[in-house]
Amino acid sequence: MTTTPNPGIFASLLDPAQRADPYPLYAQIREQGPIRLGNTPVVVLSAYRDCAAVLRDRAASVERHHASIPMGPTPVHDLAGTLSSELSGTASMLFRDPPDHTRLRRLVAKAFTPTVVRGLEPRITAITDAALDRAAERGELDLVQDLAYPLPITVICELLGVPLRDEPQLRRWSTLLARALDPVSATTAGRTEATTMVRANNELHEYFEQLVRHRRTRPSNDLLSALIAAEESTDTLTHDELISTCALLLIAGHETTVNLIANTALALLRPGHRHQLADLGAAPAFTGAVIEESLRYDPPVQLVPRIARDAITLPNIDIATGDLIVMLIAAANRDPDVFTEPDRYDPARGDRHLAFGLGQHFCLGAPLARLEATVALTRFARRVHNPRLACGQIAYREHVTLRGPARLPLTFTSIAPATRPDGHAEPAL
Ligand code: HEM
Repeated sequence: MTTTPNPGIFASLLDPAQRADPYPLYAQIREQGPIRLGNTPVVVLSAYRDCAAVLRDRAASVERHHASIPMGPTPVHDLAGTLSSELSGTASMLFRDPPDHTRLRRLVAKAFTPTVVRGLEPRITAITDAALDRAAERGELDLVQDLAYPLPITVICELLGVPLRDEPQLRRWSTLLARALDPVSATTAGRTEATTMVRANNELHEYFEQLVRHRRTRPSNDLLSALIAAEESTDTLTHDELISTCALLLIAGHETTVNLIANTALALLRPGHRHQLADLGAAPAFTGAVIEESLRYDPPVQLVPRIARDAITLPNIDIATGDLIVMLIAAANRDPDVFTEPDRYDPARGDRHLAFGLGQHFCLGAPLARLEATVALTRFARRVHNPRLACGQIAYREHVTLRGPARLPLTFTSIAPATRPDGHAEPAL
């Protein structure tokens, strides 16, 4: 174990200069082994073996009240805090241990099984094609703004029953709340930002309160109506849990998938990988392998926190009850003890990554994210001819926990019309 009296190495994760390529820094952190930040009850894990063990360990809680330090923007959180306790919304499954976690997850799990999700493929294809048609009409394509973002936000809004016309407002709240997953700075700027996040969270919750009031009187065939029915007819869902679940599904359902689509496209648009992009269009079976390798190589969620509610012993560190554990899953995904030449992008490796987590909080939306990415990238590869990056420097979103480009403007020679499996052009939506 390394104890860092000067925890600068971890603090540098917050440095905007790291956004373009945090992987050399992750490698430095990983080489030090498990790190305890000075005298604080904060532990940073970056080896695959350690992260996988803690993700599976029932002593590793997601409930913030187990923390021995207050979880808010206090000085120690300069390095490793999250705002979660300040925010309402912690009633969702993501912040609950069993038995509450089991009860809440079971309520929505059936909407996200691989079989149910497969049924969404025609709609996901139609949304993707409509997005590419709009880009073809304009003669311009920013892969993030025109495809990677509109697809998952449309899908999750339709599933939940959230009107898509409210998207601009939802986007603003969601962007701010995604920042609440980051370690925050206790500087004045950090505190101001914290206030903005708390306000955004309150506004999003008030938005869902209004939507629930409206939908109670006019139920529909959507997840929101199903959750309202569960709240009304049984004692398995409180009102607070209903609202928090909606907010979680909305944010988790798109903030991550946008990055998976964009990070994958980016990997394949880089010199040396364009043949793989061509194979994507020609050989759909190859697409799954490409997506799994992108999840390993450049995961949309870079770190995941836990609190030790009991002591946890790992080979090189003893974690005490109440310690905050920060798991750098993006570092674990490039652990040379598990992956040969981990910095090489190689779709032939298989899917042994931690990008969706592990154990009981394993991502509920993984089948949906995989399907959306498969459809988006396959249609992109088939329809967009000779795509090239139109920018030298990639502008990344400012988030630390969630990682993906803010924009990916492309040049291309043409965008082919959408075709049905029988080879005929699809009608535009
Ligand atoms: C590429 C896209 C995605 C990635 C990389 C991703 C990643 C993750 C990770 C790492 C976790 C575990 C967090 C933890 O252990 O603390 C998680 C949980 C979760 N994800 Fe995803 N996610 C993605 C897409 C989605 C989608 C499309 C949905 C759809 C609704 C979704 C819903 C959830 C939910 C509800 C949880 C909480 C599960 C639980 O606590 O039992 N995710 N996700």
